[in-house]
Amino acid sequence: MCGIVGYIGNKDAYQILIKGLHRLEYRGYDSAGVALINKNKQLNVYKTKGKVAYLEDFASDKDTSGTIGIAHTRWATHGEPTNANAHPHYSQSEKLAMIHNGIIENYAVLKEQLIAKGYTFQSSTDTEVLIQLIEFIKTIHKTDLFTAVQMALNQIVGAYAIAILDKENPDTIIAARKSSPLVIGVGEDEYFLASDATPIIEYTNKVVYLNDEEIAIIKRGEPLKIKTISNIEKTPQIQQLELSLSQLEKGNYNHFMLKEIFEQAKSLTDCMRGRINTDVNNIALSGFIDHKEKFLNAKRIIITACGTSWHAGLIGMYAIEEFARIPVEVEYSSEFRYRKPVINKDDIVIAISQSGETADTLAAIELAKKNGAFIFGICNVVGSSIARATDSGCYTHVGPEIGVASTKAFTAQVLVLLMLALSIAKEKKAIEENHFLNILHEMTLIPDKIKTILKINDNIEKFSQIFTYASNFIYLGRGYNYPIALEGALKLKEISYIHAEGYPAAEMKHGPIALINAEMPVVVIATNAGMYEKVVSNIQEIKARKGKVIAIITEGDEVVRKLADYCIQIPETKECLVPLLASIPLQLLAYHIAVVKGCDVDQPRNLAKSVTVE
Ligand code: G6P
Repeated sequence: MCGIVGYIGNKDAYQILIKGLHRLEYRGYDSAGVALINKNKQLNVYKTKGKVAYLEDFASDKDTSGTIGIAHTRWATHGEPTNANAHPHYSQSEKLAMIHNGIIENYAVLKEQLIAKGYTFQSSTDTEVLIQLIEFIKTIHKTDLFTAVQMALNQIVGAYAIAILDKENPDTIIAARKSSPLVIGVGEDEYFLASDATPIIEYTNKVVYLNDEEIAIIKRGEPLKIKTISNIEKTPQIQQLELSLSQLEKGNYNHFMLKEIFEQAKSLTDCMRGRINTDVNNIALSGFIDHKEKFLNAKRIIITACGTSWHAGLIGMYAIEEFARIPVEVEYSSEFRYRKPVINKDDIVIAISQSGETADTLAAIELAKKNGAFIFGICNVVGSSIARATDSGCYTHVGPEIGVASTKAFTAQVLVLLMLALSIAKEKKAIEENHFLNILHEMTLIPDKIKTILKINDNIEKFSQIFTYASNFIYLGRGYNYPIALEGALKLKEISYIHAEGYPAAEMKHGPIALINAEMPVVVIATNAGMYEKVVSNIQEIKARKGKVIAIITEGDEVVRKLADYCIQIPETKECLVPLLASIPLQLLAYHIAVVKGCDVDQPRNLAKSVTVE
């Protein structure tokens, strides 16, 4: 949530910063700003409400020169998205400017203290309080900026990734982090900093991930220095990025979301690569193999996640309980972290997160760790905070996901959970060898089956137009398809702003059936595996009340075809693998409805991809 970028070197900073902000816009897009020091040592701040493109317009007639600068794209937490609340924020003297991603929880008390000392505030943000505090400390203690930052951060409760410019030190950026991500790119005579590596990759593949409570002193022409807020010197650990620029571009697609939906045949192949070995008929997940005993002795598995990742967790629960016979609970991280849960030493906590930065999931992990549980992470972003906070884990390896609505990361999370469930089951001898091999074989066929589904994209696009009138949708499924109903509904809500509810099909009669009339589209995942006949009865109940049924059916199913108003066929597969196929048409349906409605598919209102605040 909120993207930050910085540059110091010999190039024009503004162009690099703006390009970087565009790459980070998925993190928030309600206001944007930039601070630059020009060659006359003037510190210029330009900021405005709205997206980065508005900032570009706004700054087009301004002095944007300078080879040092910081920039920000915001997702509002404290204070509305207004020009005044946009970052960077000046200090009282306007000698310092700061950008911030995170929340300063004790800002109100600090603000009162500063007001009592004569400080005035231009915004209602917590960020402005921090930069004012830094200036206050710098002035009264007559210290340099680094020491003032260090002292201020010791008084702060909350999360931060910050970067500060000082017009009196025009060759230095001070940056620090706690619980919000910050990466420093190390180039030839230049440094970059950003919330993730995407703004950096086209200039250098050498990066240093800052750890919690570390402060970086990034000085022109000097080696990078890192110290902790308790003044311990750290040696910067340079890592090589494995990311290509083409992964960050839309190519021939109109939206990243569509590109990412279409990438799923490849992304699931990438996710299985080196893990499913059909020569020896086995699954090799190193994060599992290295800690096999933990899984074999686990009395319980708790899966914790947010949003779409939580839906993947539900499918994980079905699979782990079915195959590995270990009790599983699935928890929203935001509830789990505060509800005083019972966590035992022989529990395994699986944290699922695309970004690896979700604040609630990170906090849930910390709680589980304190209680002695073993933590297994399923993340997409390599080197992310959650990936680093876990004891072991498994990356999804689908490459950057940029559309705010998760698609390819979701199917890969489901695939990893299925591979994990089968691995545990095999090791525990809880699954018959033939059954295991059949599922393994079917798994390898999934990418080709996805390609078949993607061929009907044009049909889905056409028939999506019929439903743009709707202001409500119901999604129904049973068994493994129930989480898919939830996820289908979430996709539609997120990007088309149509209210949609996912429900277990049999629960319909306990409430949602009252909503059904000729106006109500009901999407039913009615594939032939699992409780097919029971779902057919549910469809009949909807038709009896004149609801419009859009059914996801298995190829060749003539029964549901006759009952439903519209059908989307998917190839046959094993019951536990259906989610990997059924998700695709639901993603496409949501996408096309949103496009026809003229919605901003990749950056839906009020949402952000990486939620680093609780
Ligand atoms: C946000 C995103 C969702 C995502 C959720 C959890 O709400 O918009 O797409 O599912 O955060 O994010 P994570 O990165 O932890 O999977």
